[in-house]
Amino acid sequence: MTTQQAPAIRVQGLEKSYNKLEVLRGVDLVVERGSIFALLGSNGAGKTTLVKILSTLLKADSGAAWVNGFDIAAQPGEVRESISLTGQFAAVDEILSGRENLVLIAKLRHLKNAEQIADSLLERFSLTDAAGRKVSTYSGGMRRRLDIAMSLIGNPPVVFLDEPTTGLDPQARVEVWQAVAELAEQGTTVLLTTQYLEEAEQLADRIAILHRGRIIVDGTLAELKQLLPPAEVEYVEKQPSLEDIFFALVGDNDPTGTGRSAARTN
Ligand SMILES: Nc1ncnc2c1ncn2[C@@H]1O[C@H](COP(=O)(O)OP(=O)(O)O)[C@@H](O)[C@H]1O
Ligand SMILES: [Mg+2]
Repeated sequence: MTTQQAPAIRVQGLEKSYNKLEVLRGVDLVVERGSIFALLGSNGAGKTTLVKILSTLLKADSGAAWVNGFDIAAQPGEVRESISLTGQFAAVDEILSGRENLVLIAKLRHLKNAEQIADSLLERFSLTDAAGRKVSTYSGGMRRRLDIAMSLIGNPPVVFLDEPTTGLDPQARVEVWQAVAELAEQGTTVLLTTQYLEEAEQLADRIAILHRGRIIVDGTLAELKQLLPPAEVEYVEKQPSLEDIFFALVGDNDPTGTGRSAARTN
């Protein structure tokens, strides 16, 4: 399998424990190139652990994975050159303007046309008007858009967005969704993690639910909706929401199966 033909991400039997806490117990998934894949799971389900392993920040205990055709264990350097990772907390510099942040990163990556790259990203993420303002004056949605724009410098084919909208207000969330949709339109593969069913429903070509260390469902939204048995008597025609499906499948609030409640905040 050549790098070009390989799926953007392939994960086989990945396992990871923190001491006695088994977080990933054999995770399998495939993300096709140019698609948006949502990894859905409650707080503590292991989403960040999986993203850290795929971005080579953390080693798996067993199993294998390939990103952009490269083996995460044997070719970590090639994997790192193929990806960007944007976490829950923005990595932007508050003192600099949006434009200065972008130019700085482009220069750190030794790109020749840093100014041009910055301007085109500002345009793409609707930040042109705010380009010269200090990031400390930006709204949450603007910061997150800038963060995503920064992660695109150098055109990585695979982008990991770990809970890109956690902590944002509804308006900012919609703005970030537009930015993410835009990414995939340009051919970038996006693996995003989320606790928000609506986010997966809005954005993803494919949705996988991580629960108690395994992927318990993996499919398109239409496929997931078919998993719910139709009600025998329906007075009002109502499509099941992803939320209905999630709770029908998961049916509890204990993502790791350790008896620890997920209803806590980070
Ligand atoms: N470095 C660590 N050491 C011990 N436990 C950890 C560590 N990182 C995460 N955990 C635990 O592993 C579980 C999964 O965490 P995480 O991958 O961050 O979940 P998610 O991103 O889905 O909220 C949680 O119970 C968390 O407390
Ligand atoms: Mg997380």
